[in-house]
Amino acid sequence: MSASWILADFKEEDTVFVSAAAGAVGALVCQIAKIKGCRVVASAGTNEKVDAAFNYKEVEKLRLTLGEHCPQGIDLYFENVGGEHLEAHMNTFGRIVVCGMISVYNNLAPVAGPRNLPMITTKRLRIQGFIVSDHYDREEMFLDDMREWIAAGTIRWRETVVQGIENVPRAFIGLFIGENIGKMLVKVGSHQADAVENKA
Ligand SMILES: NC(=O)c1ccc[n+]([C@@H]2O[C@H](COP(=O)([O-])OP(=O)(O)OC[C@H]3O[C@@H](n4cnc5c(N)ncnc54)[C@H](OP(=O)(O)O)[C@@H]3O)[C@@H](O)[C@H]2O)c1
Repeated sequence: MSASWILADFKEEDTVFVSAAAGAVGALVCQIAKIKGCRVVASAGTNEKVDAAFNYKEVEKLRLTLGEHCPQGIDLYFENVGGEHLEAHMNTFGRIVVCGMISVYNNLAPVAGPRNLPMITTKRLRIQGFIVSDHYDREEMFLDDMREWIAAGTIRWRETVVQGIENVPRAFIGLFIGENIGKMLVKVGSHQADAVENKA
């Protein structure tokens, strides 16, 4: 797969930054990067979601806070958020995997930023978009790894479950204001859903 030069490139002892780290994607990426021996710094939007990481809503300058958490700089940024997050201070020859940019999906006008794009040249960065459907040929390999990691307890996850088909719009809007931890699911049918199911 042509995209694999960057996507599978967790190098041991890399500093990896993951945004929207309490979401379905970010939470898994953090754990996989740890398994691969990386140092992981993560951002999420509530203190409840923060572990060895920071709440981006409580910091005055995201870039400065990231600098404090990543004194050695960032080697790989797994981008889920966009906007100011994409101004993360990267190391020379750093890699950025752009999985999504949830902070800009609902913008009514295009944004002029990130403001530090010249760093792509000065730091010789590689930035690559990621779409899961490009990688279905690697699904079996992924599932083999996941089965092993889940059985060993090294991968854990949480889900947010909302009850009732009538609450689909609320659940969807909740994704943009951080109401979920892990995958946001809507349960239909007669069984009551717990607000948060912890499958850890
Ligand atoms: N490329 C692909 O194949 C692929 C596949 C699936 C998803 N994606 C993308 O990957 C990203 C993560 O998806 P996901 O399914 O893990 O997320 P998710 O479970 O849908 O959760 C979304 C989280 O994003 C955070 N968020 C929402 N608005 C934000 C904002 N303005 N600024 C910062 N954070 C914000 C919220 O958490 P906080 O509390 O932290 O704010 C929210 O809980 C999204 O951009 C999505 O579009 C890409």
